[in-house]
Amino acid sequence: MRSLKTMSERSIRSLKAMHRDQIQEHLRFAQELGVVGVSRDRAWRERKTGAADPRGRPPAAAAAEGPTHTSKSPIRLTLTPVEALAAVRTDIGDCTRCKLHRLGRQQIVFGVGNPNADLMFVGEAPGRDEDVQGIPFVGRAGQLLTKIVEAIGLTRDEVYIANVIKCRPPENRNPEPDEVETCEPFLFQQIDVIKPKVIVALGTFASRALLRTLDPISRLRGRVYDYRGAKLIPTFHPAYLLRNPASKREVWEDMKRVRELLKS
Ligand code: URA
Repeated sequence: MRSLKTMSERSIRSLKAMHRDQIQEHLRFAQELGVVGVSRDRAWRERKTGAADPRGRPPAAAAAEGPTHTSKSPIRLTLTPVEALAAVRTDIGDCTRCKLHRLGRQQIVFGVGNPNADLMFVGEAPGRDEDVQGIPFVGRAGQLLTKIVEAIGLTRDEVYIANVIKCRPPENRNPEPDEVETCEPFLFQQIDVIKPKVIVALGTFASRALLRTLDPISRLRGRVYDYRGAKLIPTFHPAYLLRNPASKREVWEDMKRVRELLKS
């Protein structure tokens, strides 16, 4: 018969082993979550690390609630703008949501430029050249847009360019309401990812779609609108400028305002 003492010593040893395994597993799990250290010392838990707690919690609350992941943390719950835009593009896929996919479009024209841009241009829909190349504003109107961008000291690579509609309408006709309704959520997602300071809406169609109005561009331009956290400036479409070069003067006024807003 084993003595009570021996039994209790064995139980204590096996209990300790069990706890050790559990604690090891717990620590491994915490490490995977990004916890870099633990301490039972209250002063250590409530220490000032130099950096403010990202959620603005007092040290004791932050320690009690557990770790907050910073950019140095091994896990990251947010996507970078590049990743988030890629996710939007993946979501669009080889889109068949509206009738444009069977009306001759060659490919989806998603958007181009800097995912962290302060300045974003929004046009109407891809034309023939854009449909062939898969890049917005690469035709004649696009070349003029590039000059407009450069006129305020930026390059095409520094801004972001997209359209309300991602597929070319047949014969470059105006996009129809059901096409806009289906496609514009993707533009809104692009805007929300990029978070530009300033959006330039190019022409009547983009300005109307973004500002939810039926006013013509001649009435809309000349003012700054608050839009999804950005300042929105409607201006004439470069294709219109190719036909009406005299209106370049007004576009230049709009672009000077854009430049001021970008500096502010
Ligand atoms: N016009 C637009 O509105 N978008 C383009 O991408 C090209 C021409």
